[in-house]
Amino acid sequence: METIQTFTSELSILEISYLVASVLFILGLKKLSHPATARAGNLWAAAGMGAAILFTILFHQKDGQPIGNILWIVVALAIGSFIGWYASVKVKMTAMPQMVSIFNGMGGACAALISLMEFPKMQDHLASLPVPAANMLGGEGIAILLGLMIGGVSFAGSMIAFGKLDGRIGDIKHPILRVVNLSFLVVLLVALFVILFMEPVAGNNLPIYLFAIAALIYGVTFVMPIGGADMPVVISLLNSFTGVAAAMGGFLYGNQAMLTGGILVGSSGTILTILMCKAMNRSLMNVIIGAFGVAGAAGTEAEDKTVKEISLSDAAVLLSYSQKIFIVPGYGLAVAQAQHLCHELDNLLAGKGVEVKYAIHPVAGRMPGHMNVLLAEADVPYEKLVEMEDANNEMGNTDVVIVIGANDVVNPAAEDDPSSPIYGMPIIKALDAKNVIVMKRSMAAGYAAIPNNLFYHPKNRMLFGDAKATLQKLVAEIKSL
Ligand code: TAP
Repeated sequence: METIQTFTSELSILEISYLVASVLFILGLKKLSHPATARAGNLWAAAGMGAAILFTILFHQKDGQPIGNILWIVVALAIGSFIGWYASVKVKMTAMPQMVSIFNGMGGACAALISLMEFPKMQDHLASLPVPAANMLGGEGIAILLGLMIGGVSFAGSMIAFGKLDGRIGDIKHPILRVVNLSFLVVLLVALFVILFMEPVAGNNLPIYLFAIAALIYGVTFVMPIGGADMPVVISLLNSFTGVAAAMGGFLYGNQAMLTGGILVGSSGTILTILMCKAMNRSLMNVIIGAFGVAGAAGTEAEDKTVKEISLSDAAVLLSYSQKIFIVPGYGLAVAQAQHLCHELDNLLAGKGVEVKYAIHPVAGRMPGHMNVLLAEADVPYEKLVEMEDANNEMGNTDVVIVIGANDVVNPAAEDDPSSPIYGMPIIKALDAKNVIVMKRSMAAGYAAIPNNLFYHPKNRMLFGDAKATLQKLVAEIKSL
């Protein structure tokens, strides 16, 4: 009687802790949706995960026994926590997508390993029943195999994505890869059904190992043909895969925290993928097959058009005597690491009574929220960041738009050239303002590899050079006025 009571109360505490963890995940995710509360949201969700881990170690029981191997668990937790902490402290802002990719891959690997451990146990159990089961079909079997397949694809795909983002692996775009890719997907799905309908034989683990290898190979062939710059979208997709794979583990163990966490990651990853594609006006298929950067896309329109430049002193005067300015940050600002100087310019102008705000395009840069994170790093107040639609509404009464290292997100072809690959993508309407200054190093195209007529527009003047060096000189020039 005593044992049953203890067992029940411990189990209840554990279940309640999972419920609390799930609520913390949801609240944390909600807070992550605004820059001002994002940090707290991260901590809330981490607290939920911490509680779920701690209570599992303290109260989880198997066959009435507490979990063993505490030392191993603590050592593994310590090593993992140290690596995670060190990586997040050391990582450069521009290398963030790489880190997300590795961490995501680890999640997929964990889900796959759970399945690899549980499948032989389940198979042995089914084979040892007085009337052995006829096949592996059942909720647990499906959860195990899907967890292995999705987790394996996510792990291998994320590692390739990391390699591409880090410039260690190039794009292999040969059309044959798509055939190979599709063939592996078919093999994987057929293997899934074959294993499910297989008769359980104790110790027969070869099929599951082959299945794991096929999942890894498919992960590689799936990501390999995708253009390196499309990786952020793919990582978000792989992230949702990892969530689904983790949810399979939660289903398998009847663990609510794992199930909720997995479902939240899976669904938010899917929503983010869709939002990114929408903001780029591209379908997911288009990202996966890769349409940008097609040879010849850089067009010929530019040939007999002239580009006007602006001198540093003219730019300094124009900016200093303006009333309202919008800065449009882009990928080049992150590359140049000029966010602090950008903030200095903004403060300097604000000191002269100029209203300065930032117009943030949802896909400016190379990862979701890239510009928000970049500017937050330079302590630019959140209130100064204006979302694209609101910024566009204010463009009419703006004196100058300064485009710093942005290109596609201000390209008018998205509005007026139906033949353009970015046609339909919402843009920041810099040309609605009275003047435009574009800071970049050359006339080179951006991510979409297409020309930008904004550069030739009479309202626009170019301030060529590396964004950091140019901003440095501009700030000095304004100070000397
Ligand atoms: P881009 O269109 O890629 O243009 C960036 C520009 O920055 C380039 O034209 C480059 O011109 C300039 N640049 C590079 N280094 C510079 C430096 N050191 N100093 C000054 N300028 C520099 O960037 P964007 O406008 O931010 O648009 C983002 C693009 O990425 C969109 O097409 C979007 O669809 C795509 N994308 C975004 C995401 C996410 S989630 N944000 C994910 C995948 C793809 P120069 O070489 O002449 O300097």
